[in-house]
Amino acid sequence: MSRAFHPSLIGPESWEGYVFSDQEIRIKESTDLYGAMLWPSAMVLCHFLETNQDKYNLADKNVIELGAGTGLVTVVSSLLGAKVTSTDLPDVLGNLQYNVTRNTKGRCKYIPLVTELIWGQDVAERFPRATHRFDYILAADVVYGHPYLDELMDTFDYLCQDDTQILWAMRFRLDLENSFVDRFRQRFHLEELYDLPSLSIKLYRAWRRDKWTKDQREAAA
Ligand SMILES: C[S@@+](CC[C@H](N)C(=O)[O-])C[C@H]1O[C@@H](n2cnc3c(N)ncnc32)[C@H](O)[C@@H]1O
Repeated sequence: MSRAFHPSLIGPESWEGYVFSDQEIRIKESTDLYGAMLWPSAMVLCHFLETNQDKYNLADKNVIELGAGTGLVTVVSSLLGAKVTSTDLPDVLGNLQYNVTRNTKGRCKYIPLVTELIWGQDVAERFPRATHRFDYILAADVVYGHPYLDELMDTFDYLCQDDTQILWAMRFRLDLENSFVDRFRQRFHLEELYDLPSLSIKLYRAWRRDKWTKDQREAAA
């Protein structure tokens, strides 16, 4: 009888477990793609959403997530009652869909939609403003040394209508992140909700600068 190595067919599935909204969430990661890993900013944003439901109630709200990666933020927002459109690059969507389905099926009022959104590409055609109004844009760790920062800025700008709020968790690594925030401030009013120096993460709320100016004017009148 010859000896041979046969890889086991019964392998343990590797996943990370979390509890949000009283539900156990299992997230499958893969190490071959940025978007198939869960980044700490996503956990910070989920913690914020779960613990600030009185102020930021996602129930029945239209939400879009940019660069959703493994999908934790999409899952938690869906568990909190939002109608979520979860977006990322095409290569990431398989793992994202798997995690979203695995964790939301039979648990959420609205089935989340997982779909491609490449920053700056065909955004107006795929998400016409007249039919796609979002109450919240969620984003975790989407700003780092990639070459699509202008396209990302334009995507925020396009999707953010007058009544849209952006909740954006940001990990600071390089100067380029600071300059993105400075440029972001020129288009949006930016409020810092969390500053976590030990993680180099900040959480921001943002909304259109023109809308903020109008609200200030009305409040002063
Ligand atoms: C650092 S990961 C963060 C993933 C997830 N939000 C998290 O915090 O765990 C950045 C995400 O942005 C996505 N991304 C990068 N460039 C993109 C682009 N040009 N258009 C759309 N998504 C992009 C990646 O696929 C990835 O999912």
